[in-house]
Amino acid sequence: MRKLNVAILGATGAVGQRFIQLLEDHPWFQVAELIGSSRSAGKTYGDAARWVLDGNPPAGITDRVVGALDEPLESPLVFSALPKEAARLRELELAEAGHVVCTNASANRMLDDVPLLLPEVNAEHVDLIAVQRARRGWSGGALVANSNCTVMPVVMSLKPLRKYGIRRLHLVSEQAVSGAGYPGVSSMDMIDNIIPYVPGDEDKMESESLKMLGSFAGDSIVSLASTVSATCTRVPVLDGHLVNISVDLAEQPSLSAIIDDWQTYQAASPVPDLPSAPDYPLQYLQQIDRPQPRRDRQAGAGMMTSIGRLRECPVLGYKFAALSHNTVRGAAGCSILNAELMAVKGYIDGFQMTVGEAAFA
Ligand SMILES: NC(=O)c1ccc[n+]([C@@H]2O[C@H](COP(=O)([O-])OP(=O)(O)OC[C@H]3O[C@@H](n4cnc5c(N)ncnc54)[C@H](OP(=O)(O)O)[C@@H]3O)[C@@H](O)[C@H]2O)c1
Repeated sequence: MRKLNVAILGATGAVGQRFIQLLEDHPWFQVAELIGSSRSAGKTYGDAARWVLDGNPPAGITDRVVGALDEPLESPLVFSALPKEAARLRELELAEAGHVVCTNASANRMLDDVPLLLPEVNAEHVDLIAVQRARRGWSGGALVANSNCTVMPVVMSLKPLRKYGIRRLHLVSEQAVSGAGYPGVSSMDMIDNIIPYVPGDEDKMESESLKMLGSFAGDSIVSLASTVSATCTRVPVLDGHLVNISVDLAEQPSLSAIIDDWQTYQAASPVPDLPSAPDYPLQYLQQIDRPQPRRDRQAGAGMMTSIGRLRECPVLGYKFAALSHNTVRGAAGCSILNAELMAVKGYIDGFQMTVGEAAFA
């Protein structure tokens, strides 16, 4: 039995660390290469990285030497947690060189031939890879993105409501500090404060959500035809992005029908059986003051989205709150789930997996 070697780009940052943590004991993938900036390259991981997660790095990680971004990689599968400027060209180069790249960076997310994949929402978008490979002449390589971390609770909670016709959306986020990476926002700005501006995120909320909820038309993604208005704020919470969502639906389902849609929602096979998939991706919390970041971000090992406070909205019809863990479901956990789906769908050459398999034979 062998596992597939993976490289992590931006391995020393907040998302890179979450990749390392989530890949410890992963049944199919193992961390083989850790890549940082020129600040870290050549140092041991222990010297280069300030570990910001609970506990310590998994055994064997701290003594590894961090590689440089411009060096060739050995690993067939690459998880990218690079800032967008560093990601833009390098991710495309690596895909062209035959690597399957799963990225968290925003640089290439909205390219026409790059799937913005969230398996419980749009697993069928994975087949855009065939179009990407044909169009770019890539053999074996691919580039697949996951969305901005604040978009995640929005599209997760709206997917079961799409059948009612989503006409308009009004979104107000309360985003955790880890969403800005490390060291992120200064404590002098963040303690005893709320910052009503998160650079770039409002545009991403308004565009990425529609691409993700869009349909795959065989050679392109047709974005959902809805209107979105987003306001993004940063709040003094460590992990977990909460979004207050108001939605105008073409149909008028009862509140109890919507809650039932959320509680019973599951993606089609094979998604629920992928190693990192939670049993159910959504939970509806009946308590009037939930979801809350501190209490609910770890639901389903950080992979569930928690929803609450569904009520009538005198402006748009319905309103509710949705919460996801930003570095697990909103970043590293989603990328790993995307790679698992690609392995099952045969998009990682030489590594065709079947759900339920312990490791590649
Ligand atoms: N934080 C979240 O919740 C979240 C969620 C979804 C998506 N994202 C996206 O994920 C990416 C990483 O975010 P983060 O929060 O982990 O940021 P971060 O904590 O600032 O980490 C950035 C990482 O990229 C490396 N890096 C910086 N400049 C580089 C360069 N020029 N060449 C090579 N490596 C470079 C850093 O290495 P050194 O330590 O060596 O400098 C570090 O490992 C970003 O694109 C972000 O938008 C973040």
